[in-house]
Amino acid sequence: MKILAICGGMRPDSNTNKLVKTAAGAAGCEYEVADFGTLDIKPCTGCSACMMDEGRCPVDDDMQDLYDKLLAADAIIVGSPTYFMNISGAVKCFIDRSLALFYRGIGPLYDPEMPFMGQRPLAGKPGVVVTTVAGAGHEKAIEELTLCMGGSHRLEIVAKIAEAIGMNDVDDMPEVISRARAAGKKLGDALRKK
Ligand SMILES: Cc1cc2nc3c(=O)[nH]c(=O)nc-3n(C[C@H](O)[C@H](O)[C@H](O)COP(=O)(O)O)c2cc1C
Repeated sequence: MKILAICGGMRPDSNTNKLVKTAAGAAGCEYEVADFGTLDIKPCTGCSACMMDEGRCPVDDDMQDLYDKLLAADAIIVGSPTYFMNISGAVKCFIDRSLALFYRGIGPLYDPEMPFMGQRPLAGKPGVVVTTVAGAGHEKAIEELTLCMGGSHRLEIVAKIAEAIGMNDVDDMPEVISRARAAGKKLGDALRKK
């Protein structure tokens, strides 16, 4: 069993990424980190090629590897910093590009009456969504992550971590770390029940 831990923060000391890794570590199974500080993920160009060519995206960057990793993962954690009361641009690029997965011919249809909406290969995989913010806007950001990864990709979201941390380092906030650990344990439990 393997968890894919999407660390959407781009700072080396990203609090978001620390919570994603804490949750992944607490799940009690193998996990792999995708660190946006080192990955090149370009924006979706809207070319629609993926819809015509079995989910193949022509943009040549690190998203190509991530497509395979998303499909292979048994569970997925997605973390984004809160920027301007929402998810970050980098994480939105990742989510936009993930549209290509809908056209790989894998998983249940989103809606049998709208086949053009594609299939959902990640449907039913347990997931956790994570955001951190300095002061305000994390509720909107976590709602957005839930909508994209739960509502659209149909991950089974088992826990949400949305933490306002001021200018602190989460490593100095034991109660925040313990909430992330609890979310990770929930993810591990959901995974083992599958
Ligand atoms: C471009 C940008 C936009 C931000 N927007 C907000 C915001 O809307 N509300 C807020 O309280 N903090 C905002 N912040 C602060 C971040 O939410 C906060 O520092 C967060 O913990 C950063 O996550 P990271 O440690 O994972 O990089 C913003 C920071 C940046 C760089």
